[in-house]
Amino acid sequence: HEEFTKVKNIATIELGRYEIETWYFSPFPTEYNDCVKLYFCEFCLNFMKRKEQLQRHMRKCDLKHPPGDEIYRCGTLSMFEVDGKKNKVYGQNLCYLAKLFLDHKTLYYDVDLFLFYVLCECDDRGCHMVGYFSKEKHSEESYNLACILTLPPYQRKGYGKFLIAFSYELSKKEGKVGTPERPLSDLGLLSYRGYWTRVLLDILKKHKGNISIKELSDMTAIKAEDILTTLQTLELIQYRKGQHVICADPKVLDRHLKAAGRGGLDVDVSKLIWTPYK
Ligand code: COA
Ligand code: NA
Repeated sequence: HEEFTKVKNIATIELGRYEIETWYFSPFPTEYNDCVKLYFCEFCLNFMKRKEQLQRHMRKCDLKHPPGDEIYRCGTLSMFEVDGKKNKVYGQNLCYLAKLFLDHKTLYYDVDLFLFYVLCECDDRGCHMVGYFSKEKHSEESYNLACILTLPPYQRKGYGKFLIAFSYELSKKEGKVGTPERPLSDLGLLSYRGYWTRVLLDILKKHKGNISIKELSDMTAIKAEDILTTLQTLELIQYRKGQHVICADPKVLDRHLKAAGRGGLDVDVSKLIWTPYK
């Protein structure tokens, strides 16, 4: 992989109200090789070398939210679905931006094949991106999420878990189970572990009697393998007579739930207006 050896070129970006320090190399077109700072339009995600260019751009850019359909709105929080085929430049810009914070993901230049779910905080100036995830339109491997990012100024506020929860709500609407594309970053894995633990243990706590991994998978759209590894990591699985058995002592569940961190922001499914991609 060539990208691993490449040195970080862009050190900071300006995006909306924020100046953000970058984390990793991103393969911007060669004419940006001499830049250490880039100026992004927070709405169309076009990037420029100079502040004056951005200011000029902002006077004529009509967008006040990501291109595409608003599929979720709850209070000031909105989710937009952007089709990479219909909004190719936006999709590519988003990938360039995201790579600045993603270590080992290969960038997909073939944005046609992806949908982008862009989460925004909205106010009277517009809808400001806080993060996103991408999803293949058709996944052979039942991936329901390819890349996930919360922009650094918005991290550790529960948006990551919101995005993960949202990806599973879409899978439920599709009537499919899903799993994130691998490899996951350390922060990605922490976020998923936290999400899986909370969702599964909440069910185990409320449920009376036996429950199988298959049933848990049907209820949550979490792939059976991910359920098994989560419960194994928590040492809630025993192997009896050739079968995995979930052992859920309420006290043990409570202890794990506490350790799993905050629940994050909840997705209110009644506010999701969406039909699966055909
Ligand atoms: N240090 C320790 N734990 C952290 C952490 C940090 N800096 N950031 C997140 N976590 C863990 C915590 O367990 C946290 O739950 P808690 O706050 O209840 O303890 C959990 O992850 C999720 O936090 P949340 O606020 O919902 O997530 P986020 O909005 O910060 O987004 C990512 C999480 C992974 C999307 C974000 O870190 C990110 O964009 N990272 C860069 C891109 C990336 O690595 N993406 C994953 C690629 S597979
Ligand atoms: Na990654």
